[in-house]
Amino acid sequence: MDDFLVIDRITKSFGTQRAVDDVTLTVGQGEAFSLLGPSGCGKTTLLRMIAGFESPDRGRILLGGQDIAALPPEQRPVNTVFQNYALFPHLSVWENVAFGLRMSRRPKEEIRSGVDRMLELVRLKEHARKRPAQLSGGQRQRVAIARALVNRPQVLLLDEPLAALDLKLRQHMLMELNTIHEQVGTTFIYVTHDQGEAMSLSSRIAVMNAGRVEQVDSPENLYETPRSSFVASFIGDANFFNGVAVELQHEGYVRVMVEGLGSPLVQSNGAVSSNRAMRIMVRPEKISLTLSRPQSGERVNAFPGVVEDVAYFGSHTRYRVRSGEHSVLAQMQRSRFSGGGIDPVRGTEVWMSFHPDEGRVVRLEADA
Ligand SMILES: Nc1ncnc2c1ncn2[C@@H]1O[C@H](COP(=O)(O)OP(=O)(O)O)[C@@H](O)[C@H]1O
Ligand SMILES: [Mg+2]
Repeated sequence: MDDFLVIDRITKSFGTQRAVDDVTLTVGQGEAFSLLGPSGCGKTTLLRMIAGFESPDRGRILLGGQDIAALPPEQRPVNTVFQNYALFPHLSVWENVAFGLRMSRRPKEEIRSGVDRMLELVRLKEHARKRPAQLSGGQRQRVAIARALVNRPQVLLLDEPLAALDLKLRQHMLMELNTIHEQVGTTFIYVTHDQGEAMSLSSRIAVMNAGRVEQVDSPENLYETPRSSFVASFIGDANFFNGVAVELQHEGYVRVMVEGLGSPLVQSNGAVSSNRAMRIMVRPEKISLTLSRPQSGERVNAFPGVVEDVAYFGSHTRYRVRSGEHSVLAQMQRSRFSGGGIDPVRGTEVWMSFHPDEGRVVRLEADA
């Protein structure tokens, strides 16, 4: 991947608090990239430094090979869409989008064609004469995006742009944003605390925690091979079991003794020494529930337990299963249940099992 936008060892403190702590990232030209993390982890601060509204205490930001530190916001080829999209209420949709081009005194014809093209892109042409108050939330957000893209920025920064919309509209806008990104090909940097948004919008995601980047990876890799328990629990749901590595096997597997669960075999994920404290992670949907013990021999990890809670979600059902000290979350599609046609209810004795490939060692936070 090319190094279009390079964030190089950026640090920013407010007083004694480090909002952004030694962050290094590279974003490719035309990429849809997300910064994902809980509230307060430094996402907006990082975005504001890219836009030029804040200056870093240390580190460099390069765009197309050029250090942009000295450029004021209006001279950076970067535009931002904020959560509260702050449209001009007294101007029409068309004039809201035209505003930036008018300010930079572009020729009339260029303004006309530029605004029309943008309104077509966000599918608001027939609403061009309306005022923002006459639009729905999703339409207003699309005006804000058109207004930010009309100046043809090289990078579009979007800071929680869908947070004010209700669920259905948000899901719809996610699809729209994907289409808009495909059509304009501009580099998008999308900030959100919502893992679903980040996963559906971006080719790569930087997961942030307390000012630092924990992992930068594709949505698939973050879900399937999280490196830390923070990433594993922020992206989807996860069961964690603490244990001690008892037998390191070649081909990347390790047997981990977990008090009360025996010694499951899991992917070692680069862990190299035995007799060490380890944490393993298994996604709920990777755990199968059966009424009898699975027969597939040594390569399956299986433990008995008792169903404590059942929650039906339509497309799947979730079970909380107790096994001694452990409370395990399992999730199954109805059709996957192979226990002889009856659904486990509260109190049912079941077997939980997962394949060694579906369990993996994650970093203990103490190792971080
Ligand atoms: N202008 C500021 N003055 C003081 N503290 C700030 C300022 N901006 C952000 N912070 C602090 O820096 C941390 C990161 O904030 P922010 O970047 O807004 O996080 P996020 O966008 O991930 O929610 C927070 O603890 C926040 O309180
Ligand atoms: Mg923020």
